[in-house]
Amino acid sequence: MSLNTAQMLRQTVLRRGGARTFASAAIPAREPSARLLAVSKAQGVSDGLTEAIGNTPLIRLNHLSKETGCNILGKAEFMNPGGSIKDRAALYVVLDAEERGLLKPGGTVVEGTAGNTGIGLAHVCRSRGYKLVIYMPNTQSQGKIDLLRLLGAEVYPVPAVAFDNEANYNHQARRHAEALDNAVWTNQFDNVANRRAHIETTGPEIWAQTEGKVDAFTCATGTGGTFAGTTRYLKTVSGGRVKAFLADPPGSVLHSYISSGGKLIERSGSSITEGIGQGRVTDNLAPDVELVDGSMTVSDEKSINMVYRCLDEEGLYLGASSALNVVAAKEVAEKMGPGSTVVTVLADGAYRYADRLFSRKWLESKNLVGAIPKHLEKYIVLP
Ligand SMILES: Cc1ncc(COP(=O)(O)O)c(C=O)c1O
Repeated sequence: MSLNTAQMLRQTVLRRGGARTFASAAIPAREPSARLLAVSKAQGVSDGLTEAIGNTPLIRLNHLSKETGCNILGKAEFMNPGGSIKDRAALYVVLDAEERGLLKPGGTVVEGTAGNTGIGLAHVCRSRGYKLVIYMPNTQSQGKIDLLRLLGAEVYPVPAVAFDNEANYNHQARRHAEALDNAVWTNQFDNVANRRAHIETTGPEIWAQTEGKVDAFTCATGTGGTFAGTTRYLKTVSGGRVKAFLADPPGSVLHSYISSGGKLIERSGSSITEGIGQGRVTDNLAPDVELVDGSMTVSDEKSINMVYRCLDEEGLYLGASSALNVVAAKEVAEKMGPGSTVVTVLADGAYRYADRLFSRKWLESKNLVGAIPKHLEKYIVLP
């Protein structure tokens, strides 16, 4: 019986560290394929879900790289167990609460979130035996509420009011945790354990994967943890050589803040992207604002266009914010010139947004059909 490479891989048991490889006796003697060798060097068995977070592939976007004459690389964060980059922050805020003695076995984690952080926390809390309580604005879709509930979270949709109103979902989350014993409000926006996740994991992974051959990093910010932590690490390890550019969706204030040298906080427009855009400089972003080399706003037209291009050209099924990051990486690459290597973050996949991003009716309601090239309209498969 001859086995193909995939079957051979399945029979290969790997230990973490990649040092020990046991191949089944059924594997015929032949030269191992390059793919098998690469897999043998990868990480082995993860001790539970939390160890499976991070160490994501860094994918070269071949079409865009060719088009720009640069290396445009996307960190495949959609491959985390919870499906997004926020698994990293979720893990770190929980570990930090444990280390500080705020969370003991059987305790409760409380967070205000409408998106990926809640999903990441739900996975991490289940795997470590904690209860999870989520507050979110009641403007969020039933799908998000259902998903968090089926992942074991207790969910409270509350009126969508501004941060300076005590009824805001973040304040309600804080008060809920304060009223319980053995409970912590993980406070993703201003808890710098979030940023630390990226100083200790995302940044070092990018540096190792590129063998230090990286010229620029760019991505959008929600809490700012990803951008700030990764920027801090890459700037430090490269002695300031790696450039950092913040990418903003319409409606976020950070581009105006950075490009005006901290003088302006202007908000204009709104965006179809989710999980990104910010109205203030969070504690996660604040320590690293001075490291930023520049910023840009990316329009929804460009982002949606890139959702469809990445699907068609790269085979990547990305959410709109990841597509925004790819647009930013392309623009940074064009600015830096041929031969440069620019890294960005593919924060999550399109799975949770498919009913919008690939719906003609929704695209029309947002005036975005015109942003999709005619030959890519075949991907608008939903009414
Ligand atoms: C969907 C999504 N979530 C989160 C983030 C970044 O999150 P944060 O700034 O909270 O680390 C990004 C960044 O591009 C994103 O696209």
